[in-house]
Amino acid sequence: MKIGVVGLGYVGIITAAVLASRGHQVIGVDVDKEKVKSLNCNRSPIYEPGLDELLRKVKINYTTDYSKLSDVDIAFITVSTPTVNGKILLDHVFSAVSSLSNVLRRDAIIVMKSTVIPGTSRKAKELSGMEVVVNPEFLREGYAIEDTLHPDRIVIGGDKSAGDLVEEVWRFTNSPIIRTSLEEAELIKYASNSFLAVKISFANEIANLCERIPNCDVNVVTQAMGIDKRISPYFLKAGLGYGGSCFPKDTLAILGFSSELGEKLRIVEAAVEVNNERPLRAISAMKELMGEIKGKRICILGLSFKPGTDDTRESVALKILNLLEKEGAEVIAYDPKAKVEGIKIARNSEECIMSSEGVIIATEWSEFSGIEPILKGKYVFDGRRVLDLKKLDNAIMVGVSRCKR
Ligand code: UDX
Repeated sequence: MKIGVVGLGYVGIITAAVLASRGHQVIGVDVDKEKVKSLNCNRSPIYEPGLDELLRKVKINYTTDYSKLSDVDIAFITVSTPTVNGKILLDHVFSAVSSLSNVLRRDAIIVMKSTVIPGTSRKAKELSGMEVVVNPEFLREGYAIEDTLHPDRIVIGGDKSAGDLVEEVWRFTNSPIIRTSLEEAELIKYASNSFLAVKISFANEIANLCERIPNCDVNVVTQAMGIDKRISPYFLKAGLGYGGSCFPKDTLAILGFSSELGEKLRIVEAAVEVNNERPLRAISAMKELMGEIKGKRICILGLSFKPGTDDTRESVALKILNLLEKEGAEVIAYDPKAKVEGIKIARNSEECIMSSEGVIIATEWSEFSGIEPILKGKYVFDGRRVLDLKKLDNAIMVGVSRCKR
């Protein structure tokens, strides 16, 4: 098929690359000239394992010109939908819909892949007079290609014949396909992400409890919980909380949306509250270890919101960094992939640790496991559970008893 992808962020680039690798003719559109230029030179603006190789193998035309989409069969919308002051911002979506309706063939289909609150795609359909199908993405950064090739399920919301065409695009994955209404498909995405956020925050509250009970380790508790098929082991890892481009914004967007409808999502509200507290707990852990932190040099290991990505959006590490600076600590950081301007960055973890009195592990990059020998003599807070506490003297960890019997 001839396929357009509008919005060349994370989801857009991966969708374009995977569909091109399946033999479709793909045209990528973005308003950002620099991004289009660098993609046309085969330079990906994001780091994602396997993406550079995949982009080199396929042929995609990148452009800022919507009119190049005049004869596509399907146009995916993958623009960002940020949450601003607790409300989803749909400007990019509606501007894409309006530009598409000016250029597309009348029988072409618009596919909403951007995460949007229920009702958005029906409005897009009415405004554009085009057929609109909702096909949310569930890809995780770091596994984005794998998740697009082999998703757990594919959700397709909308009219039968338009939905059939989108089903044809994804049939190669052999994944279960769920057909729904537009609104159900939109809500499935929010309900899924909110539920995962709830699971993480739940594990984090159990971790808080473990820290106050002698002989308790949250990993032992959650691992045993996870063996129960009804619970499942995934997204129960306690740590410094969730960050990234989806969970923080999507939980706030669904809360704003539901309160406009006069409903309160109390469990999601609590998950957000627990998550907001995680960076503060890292600061109190450092105070517990070091007493005063004002004027002390503290190193943060890991800046990306999770390992395997250079993405620092809503990264807990950066929140901790700001709090430490507010408390008057001097901060230096190191991350294997993420680059952040305006902060003191070490060339490697050893340099970062050596120049500091206190150390916080904020992202569980695999290269941080086994670094106990260089941490000797430092005050260490392991927020992501990568270290062996028995090998260290002045170290504490999320979810492990801090009180002796
Ligand atoms: C997420 C969803 O998984 C994906 O389906 C959606 O489409 C986009 O958002 P992503 O943001 O890439 O994907 O990361 P994910 O691996 O889900 O992790 C999100 C955050 O939760 C990270 O900060 C991670 O460190 C944290 N997390 C995850 C935990 O703290 N504990 C866990 O058990 C799992």
